[in-house]
Amino acid sequence: MTISSVEINRLNAFAEKMVKEKKTAVGFPCNQNVKLADFYHWYAVSGLADVAMNNVGDPCRPSLYDLNTHEFENEVIDFFAPLYGFSPSDAWGIVTSGGTDGNNHGIYFGVNVLGSKSEIKPVLYVSEEAHYSVKRLGELQALEMRQIPTNIKGEIDVQAFEQALDTTRPALIVIALGTTFKGGIDDQDAINEVLERKRPVAVYRHVDAALFGGYLPFTEHAHLVSHRDRRFDSIAVSGHKFFGFDEPSGLFITTKELLASQNPYRVSYLNDSVPTISCSRSALAPLKFWWQIHKTGVEGYRRQAELILKNALYLKQRLDEINYPAWKNDISNTVYFLRPGERVMKKWSLAPYDDERLGGKLAHDIVMRHEGKVMIDHFIDDLLEDRNGGS
Ligand SMILES: Cc1ncc(COP(=O)(O)O)c(C=O)c1O
Repeated sequence: MTISSVEINRLNAFAEKMVKEKKTAVGFPCNQNVKLADFYHWYAVSGLADVAMNNVGDPCRPSLYDLNTHEFENEVIDFFAPLYGFSPSDAWGIVTSGGTDGNNHGIYFGVNVLGSKSEIKPVLYVSEEAHYSVKRLGELQALEMRQIPTNIKGEIDVQAFEQALDTTRPALIVIALGTTFKGGIDDQDAINEVLERKRPVAVYRHVDAALFGGYLPFTEHAHLVSHRDRRFDSIAVSGHKFFGFDEPSGLFITTKELLASQNPYRVSYLNDSVPTISCSRSALAPLKFWWQIHKTGVEGYRRQAELILKNALYLKQRLDEINYPAWKNDISNTVYFLRPGERVMKKWSLAPYDDERLGGKLAHDIVMRHEGKVMIDHFIDDLLEDRNGGS
């Protein structure tokens, strides 16, 4: 059986539309500079496109289901662990199905680690501008959650955090690096200072670095995503954001010591080794990561990080030149500004947000690799036209 020409035509029209629309997609943190055609070609000719692989189980332990890519998943984690300040011999991690999956593991591991230290239920602390997945996951775990106000840049208000901190209960803190809308980076030094002074009964720090965790290791600010430097317990990073994969994926990294506090679940048909929340996991995502690491290398990632930060600065400068109210935090590729009219919002796939402190209705442009200077200039032209009533 084959797909009919009518159906193929429909698919082709759909593909054409997607390829066209990606050229003006700047409001969501998806790097549209996806380069996987060579991977998919190899995948098809290698025969793997006709094999049902599955990464169920702990990639670091022998699996009874041999049709997996654990070997490559481990090499991906070996590559990234030192970049996030974990010693390769102490690190444990997985390739996840996305940022939420990484945060899910962070919060779940946190609850279990804190549970091994105290019988008292932990409190989840997270900033008001952190991603909603963290709030949803806290709800899922029936955790008491304290949402901490933010400053105007979207960073957690550390004084308010100190006031909210209940030292008689374990503290599970999710640190935003950076926040989804403004790219606010929570001040880990200040949070750590409060924790050292106040000494809650037990502490677990998970870093949600979905977007910024992709590029920060390749900049002079790498210490911000370093377990060794900032003493967080786990980190989640997205694969489809900075790294530019074609579908959701990500990384979750912690230590072997913290893994030991997890319930491994005794599942005999899986060799008694399932520390992950999901049972079946993608075998394809680690292969794509592995392929990209070998194609790009640290130097390539460094150049990509430099480029997006340079272009974000260019966008902010162009907005300043035309006196368009706009803001950009340091070390951020996210520029936020007064919300333009519907035509511009739709054409450039802009995401809306409201903050009375900055005049109300806002939108943002997350400068990823597909957004170069020519595209930014077109965007500015559209904003000018919009302001002059051309929409
Ligand atoms: C800061 C942050 N954390 C988590 C997520 C959720 O990631 P995902 O959509 O990959 O589940 C996002 C998504 O935009 C995000 O911006």
